[in-house]
Amino acid sequence: MPFRRKTTPERIVIHDQTAFQNMARAGEVVARILDDLCTHVQPGMTTRDLDSIVEEHIAHYKVKSATIGYRGYRHASCISVNHVICHGVPGAKVLRQGDILNIDVTIIRDGWFGDSSRMYAVGRPSIKARRLLKAAHKALFAGLAQVQPGNTFGDIGHAIEKYAVSQRMSSVRSFCGHGIGRAFHMPPEVTHFGRPGTGPVLQEGMIFTVEPMINLGRPDARLLADGWTAVTRDRTLSAQFEHTVGVTRDGCQIFTLSPGNRFFPTNFTID
Ligand code: MF3
Ligand code: CO
Ligand code: CO
Repeated sequence: MPFRRKTTPERIVIHDQTAFQNMARAGEVVARILDDLCTHVQPGMTTRDLDSIVEEHIAHYKVKSATIGYRGYRHASCISVNHVICHGVPGAKVLRQGDILNIDVTIIRDGWFGDSSRMYAVGRPSIKARRLLKAAHKALFAGLAQVQPGNTFGDIGHAIEKYAVSQRMSSVRSFCGHGIGRAFHMPPEVTHFGRPGTGPVLQEGMIFTVEPMINLGRPDARLLADGWTAVTRDRTLSAQFEHTVGVTRDGCQIFTLSPGNRFFPTNFTID
């Protein structure tokens, strides 16, 4: 998710049926890779180890990484552990019992981009962490429930933030979802807050991501010196789920559904 721009968005592309088929094919691969990762999230693994597995799987499925080389980024995934909100850079960080982490993968299949992320846990997460994971997943689906022609992007953002606040949590404002298709980040910016009835009107054929980042504490983010890693200012836990979706005649098509039904909960059991 890019840092939100201040400029007004350019035109939002309306995609045809062929585009939807291509997006479903791209989304399927990224969802499979995220499913495959479930068994590899183990204590003692480094985030670099997990990223290498993502790279191997990308090669296995004969697709391309969208993030390697993107604005100088050098990895096949972003791995955001505990209080990292997003864009965690894979490295020497060793996973420990109780950690929660988001793995975000974007691939290109035949020129079309598939972008998804979900949460994993190392062992059994704390009650607080489990509450957060549930809420972040529900926040995404509260947003997706608003996706239908005639609603606005403000409706999506409003539903997400309202749900987060109802759980006494917060929705991060400095990063957003984005249009996607034959490019990684396209108009519009899909904010995870908003006023009902404001923003562009959703039309059949629009394709974008919804990827709310929900914090246990305040919504404020701080960027680390690596220029990528965003953390919560108050160091509270943060969680994120992301799907790539298209607006259909009467709702939305989710391109990045988990083939193994492992989107949530993924490699852990809740309750
Ligand atoms: N996948 C992220 C998104 O959801 C973007 C990652 S860009 C990277 O938009 F360069 F940090 F990988
Ligand atoms: Co995205
Ligand atoms: Co992503």
